[in-house]
Amino acid sequence: MEDDVERVLIAEDVIDKRLDVLARHIEKDFPGEVIQVVVLLKGALVFAADLTRRLPRMLEIECINVASYHGGMETTGTVNFLDHKLPEVKGRQVLVLDDILDTGLTLKAVVDRLKEEGAAQVKTAVLLAKDKERNADVEADYVGFFIGDEFVIGYGLDYQGRYRNLPYVGTLKPEAV
Ligand code: XMP
Repeated sequence: MEDDVERVLIAEDVIDKRLDVLARHIEKDFPGEVIQVVVLLKGALVFAADLTRRLPRMLEIECINVASYHGGMETTGTVNFLDHKLPEVKGRQVLVLDDILDTGLTLKAVVDRLKEEGAAQVKTAVLLAKDKERNADVEADYVGFFIGDEFVIGYGLDYQGRYRNLPYVGTLKPEAV
């Protein structure tokens, strides 16, 4: 697997330290006792596991399945909610976790939907945000790292379902694509 990696963009220890900082910011900003965390599968799995364990308060963690990439390297431009039912968020303080903010379509669709469902507040945290113009009017409240506009894998992010278990964020060699 590691042979397919062209470049390590963000090393494991760098991610580790940054998550400590993000967790401190989130902990300071959220009012009340309990945060309803909504994890966007599957890309945010690793980020969510590492970030939530740094938040020393009561969390309720739900996952939802949304798809816009379908395994390739380009967004399809439409966001599909793949679950029958969304978590109960009426009146709740919600924190949405996603792996990467790219066009912004996914995060915007999810935030709009959770607000429609009556969430009292929806904040968003992403491990990565591509430094580019968004197709949707959205930015994340908490960003781990801004990166260039290139396709990345690892730390939850995949290419055709693979590489999610790499402990760092990197790029793929062209011959692996
Ligand atoms: P949008 O464009 O809606 O994209 O902001 C968000 C979702 O698209 C996926 N995505 C990527 N997945 N490497 C990946 O493995 C990437 O470079 C990449 N860029 C976008 C991801 O699922 C994200 O939640």
